[in-house]
Amino acid sequence: MSDIDAQKQAAGEAAAKLVESGMTVGLGTGSTAVFFVKALGARAAAEGMALKCVATSKATAELATSVGLKVIDLDKAGTIDLTVDGADEIGPELMLIKGGGAALLREKLVWEASLRCVVIADAAKSVKMLGRFSLPIEVVAFGHTTTAGRIDDALAWCGIAAEAKLRVKDGSAVKTDAGNYIYDAACKKIPDPELLAEALKSLTGVVEHGLFLGLADEALIGTDSGVERRAR
Ligand code: 5RP
Repeated sequence: MSDIDAQKQAAGEAAAKLVESGMTVGLGTGSTAVFFVKALGARAAAEGMALKCVATSKATAELATSVGLKVIDLDKAGTIDLTVDGADEIGPELMLIKGGGAALLREKLVWEASLRCVVIADAAKSVKMLGRFSLPIEVVAFGHTTTAGRIDDALAWCGIAAEAKLRVKDGSAVKTDAGNYIYDAACKKIPDPELLAEALKSLTGVVEHGLFLGLADEALIGTDSGVERRAR
């Protein structure tokens, strides 16, 4: 296992210890979240914990079910006690970029329905200013190139010279679980994430963006010398 995977695993396993029997738990998406879901499944089975889980993607729902966790729909869950999820970047005040795994819409819906959100990551995800990781933006398929042009204008208005690029995998546009497209904007630096979040959210055709601001309560970051805990 690589050092990065070991850090992800340590963060995921530390987060699984935060869960208590009786909780409704939001399950994130991505390789770090996989470690969390597996550790939680093992703990729940060993300790006979009664848990209900809400998954942020179809892939996570399948994994959770395969490790014996009970997955319910967000609409049936009501308030979620704790959500644990990965991130592509962790900036100051636990502002995040998410969506590298194209699950940002469901992720944000689950995060916003949660009483407590814990982000788990390897140490390389920590940055002084958001923007090194290209910002994912989920866009309705109809008229998406027109919307992309308006995204570029919004980026320019925020002082960011970047062109949003359609995410393509194996020659085809990536479709999200909700049937939308993902555009990625190589911002390099995002000096005012709030301003950009507001500008993107105001565009018709943009379903959601990957800026998670004021949502993470704490971070568990795997490092070579253990798991570092950061509070917002
Ligand atoms: C998926 C996400 C992931 O949490 C993010 O991409 C981090 O993934 P990984 O844990 O594999 O590094 O936002 O949409």
